[in-house]
Amino acid sequence: MIPQHDDDHRDASGSAAAETVTAPDGQGAHPHAHHHRHHHGHGHGHGHSHGAGEHGTEPDWEALADHLERQAELDLPVLESAAAWLRDITGGHEVTRLLDLGAGPGVATVALAHAFPAAEAVAVDSADGLLARARDRAAAAGLGGRLTTRSAELPDGVPALGTADLVWTSNVVHHIGDQHAALDTFAGVLRPGGVLAVRERGLPTRNLPRDIGLGRPGLQARIDAAQEDAFDAMRAELPGSVRAVEDWPGMLAAAGLTPTGSRTFLTDLPAPLDPPARAYVRTRLERAREALSDTLSTEDLTTLDTLLDDASPEGVTRRADVFHLTAFTVHTAVRT
Ligand SMILES: C[S@@+](CC[C@H](N)C(=O)[O-])C[C@H]1O[C@@H](n2cnc3c(N)ncnc32)[C@H](O)[C@@H]1O
Repeated sequence: MIPQHDDDHRDASGSAAAETVTAPDGQGAHPHAHHHRHHHGHGHGHGHSHGAGEHGTEPDWEALADHLERQAELDLPVLESAAAWLRDITGGHEVTRLLDLGAGPGVATVALAHAFPAAEAVAVDSADGLLARARDRAAAAGLGGRLTTRSAELPDGVPALGTADLVWTSNVVHHIGDQHAALDTFAGVLRPGGVLAVRERGLPTRNLPRDIGLGRPGLQARIDAAQEDAFDAMRAELPGSVRAVEDWPGMLAAAGLTPTGSRTFLTDLPAPLDPPARAYVRTRLERAREALSDTLSTEDLTTLDTLLDDASPEGVTRRADVFHLTAFTVHTAVRT
């Protein structure tokens, strides 16, 4: 199983996390639409779908439901900050319909529905079990019929979803073979004045000190490096995989939109972590252990085994020094 882009955020107190680091505004910065569409040269003829079961190196999203939900819940304060920023960006344009493409369990969809009270919110995903969670969450939040779900394969199913004033897509585009083509399709459902917001990347997450008193110091940096290779292998195996320069504002401009800025949202949860955040960190390490068992050194795998040992005082469940520091970036653009 390959780690998706695994970002997660929350303030220790559960209040809105520090939200900082404003990246340069992308407006006008990418006048030329440079598509660097180099095909990977791997075979992509195999069947591919999402939702139930493992396909190639793509994760089994439904099996990850609890992890995705916990991650998004840790994200919630900064997701709310991101939604407030999107309200500023949409400005005078009233948002009456929003789409969350690849919504997973719908945590962000519910936050967006709260931020845009005049909008019908639609959670879209190919994993029906995750959409069921989105519906449960919407009902618990008292959103009634204002949040609906649609089962669809991205990007082909997008035109049939109808138009929207806001399209949000978080950690999804990198799971589509041709990212440029996906953005073209997503941009195609925007109403004039509508905004496309793409959450991709940010900073590598840190959960452990450099030296944890076990094995070789710098374990997380080596996990990151190995995960980058696994990420690339995952992308190479996607159907229709095309290599792209991941300049997101430039890609949004290439999709015919006008970039309106990129912003990074920081979460800093110092040690000691509360049990849900600690459980989340444990799952991250467990997924890394599973995905990288052929890549990491024997010493690092042994260290991970100790970290995953709930009975050990050196394991992440019990050790005092586990923290959570991460940041995600949202890139936006408007259809003029
Ligand atoms: C990493 S999760 C992100 C979930 C959520 N957006 C978030 O940020 O927490 C990726 C989601 O995209 C969905 N997905 C991935 N590829 C898809 C595709 N081609 N069509 C439809 N859904 C897809 C998965 O089912 C999963 O729910």
